[in-house]
Amino acid sequence: MTEPLWWQKGVIYQVYPRSYADSNGDGIGDLAGVAARLDYLVDLGVDAVWLSPIFPSPMADFGYDVADYRGIDPRFGTLADFDALRDAAHARGLKLLLDFVPNHSSSEHPWFLESRASRENPKRDWYIWRDAAPDGGPPNNWQSYFGGSAWEWDAATGQYYLHQFLKEQPELNWRNPDLRAAMLEAMRFWFDRGVDGFRIDVLWLAIKHPDFPDNPANPAWREGMQDIERLLPAHSADQPEMMEIIAAMRDVTDAYPERVLIGEIYLPIPRLVAYYGARGNGVHLPFNFHLLDATWDAAALARLIAEYEGALPAGGWPNWVLGNHDKPRVASRVGPEQAAVAMMLLLTLRGTPTLYQGDELGMPNVPIPPERVQDPQALREPDTAFNRDEVRTPMPWDASAHAGFSTVEPWLPLNPDWAERNVMAQRDDAGSMLAFTRALLQLRRAHSALSVGSWHAVSSDGAVLAYERRHGADRVLVALNLSDAPQALALPDWAVTLAPVLTTPHHDLRAEGATLLLAPNQGILLL
Ligand code: GLC
Ligand code: CA
Repeated sequence: MTEPLWWQKGVIYQVYPRSYADSNGDGIGDLAGVAARLDYLVDLGVDAVWLSPIFPSPMADFGYDVADYRGIDPRFGTLADFDALRDAAHARGLKLLLDFVPNHSSSEHPWFLESRASRENPKRDWYIWRDAAPDGGPPNNWQSYFGGSAWEWDAATGQYYLHQFLKEQPELNWRNPDLRAAMLEAMRFWFDRGVDGFRIDVLWLAIKHPDFPDNPANPAWREGMQDIERLLPAHSADQPEMMEIIAAMRDVTDAYPERVLIGEIYLPIPRLVAYYGARGNGVHLPFNFHLLDATWDAAALARLIAEYEGALPAGGWPNWVLGNHDKPRVASRVGPEQAAVAMMLLLTLRGTPTLYQGDELGMPNVPIPPERVQDPQALREPDTAFNRDEVRTPMPWDASAHAGFSTVEPWLPLNPDWAERNVMAQRDDAGSMLAFTRALLQLRRAHSALSVGSWHAVSSDGAVLAYERRHGADRVLVALNLSDAPQALALPDWAVTLAPVLTTPHHDLRAEGATLLLAPNQGILLL
């Protein structure tokens, strides 16, 4: 086996820059704030930082509406601040990943201003314009992920343009060679500036069926589900032409050493793994989001892991995600008692884990008073959409005013328990989620079985999920009690001589010969 690359053995940490650390007292996190917290990340033990978008943006969707692919929004700082952050990260051995948003730009991007200026404008075809249907309505039935039609009428030029998110996020036309070249140039711009890779936003949506047929109805749609789920995205997502575009992105990337592409792709496993590319020329890591909505029991998790492991193409490196800036916090989803078990799972499965900021503090969803809601999705679909603000609240650093995040009231409220749930309070508390996460990351770094070893099921009968990680002579057993009752696990012969070295917080470590006893909600690692 060739030496594993940094993104294979490493752990990625997602920073939502607006909410990480505010260096200049405007209530909004920024690049200098992130730079000042890098030592925390080194101490935690992660390897790479992915920053959600930091580019100039009207912030209709908090940066996922990019108005310039080659700049820094003044709220976050300057290009000089970016360079300083890059250097500070690299000096500490941390990789730095940016968020590339190829599916849509901001409606204030100069390209779109030109495109909408007239039908004859050379950039008209850089976006997706269509005539009205015969009745004057939208060209087809496609829905926006944020509610309503995906088409917006432009009276000045008498056509509709496509937006699968906000109307302030017009979709780029990847069938246009000039647009394609301009976007690939933007990737080169950041690679030349020393960026170690990209997380690519809504990658599976970036090209649509050339004829824009209606999407079929979703027979599973029920009252209370979001608009977008009324239809199956047969023609608006996951089109065959996607692979050729990704291959072009990959060519750009492979011209630089050891860069990584991570694709945001919400698809069932059989389709997800296609994004590794038929000849290994897809993205390096198609984000595996399947833990985000997995049924939280041993059998279901074991089935998921086995299905995913079995579906990976030769040479395809696995990865796992338990939280991000769009989805409910894992501590709320599985419950606070299971949060440490979930962390142990994430950091001991085979493949690259991505850890979302705040999950290392066991942060739950934070309730947002109605008058402070900012998430455009929640504002448009208040009854059916998850309010993403609940997982985007400021990082609580200490018990000083505004939790050390800012010197003023932050843009979103803090977690109500910030005076106790903060980095300072947990740092020196051996029983904290933070200390536990750090210990897991240390073990992962020290043991190749955990970072790059193979994965083997040991048990998923009843409430205990147990598995082996193995690399050469290095063997690890992980046993997770997914229930709130005590459990016993008969250890396989090879594991009887192992020593229990790490447990979830507030539990005892005891070896009982051939039987491992697990307290309610306990996870144990033996090696
Ligand atoms: C991705 C982002 C999400 C954003 C959407 C539109 O899903 O993670 O935050 O709203 O794309 O860019
Ligand atoms: Ca700031």
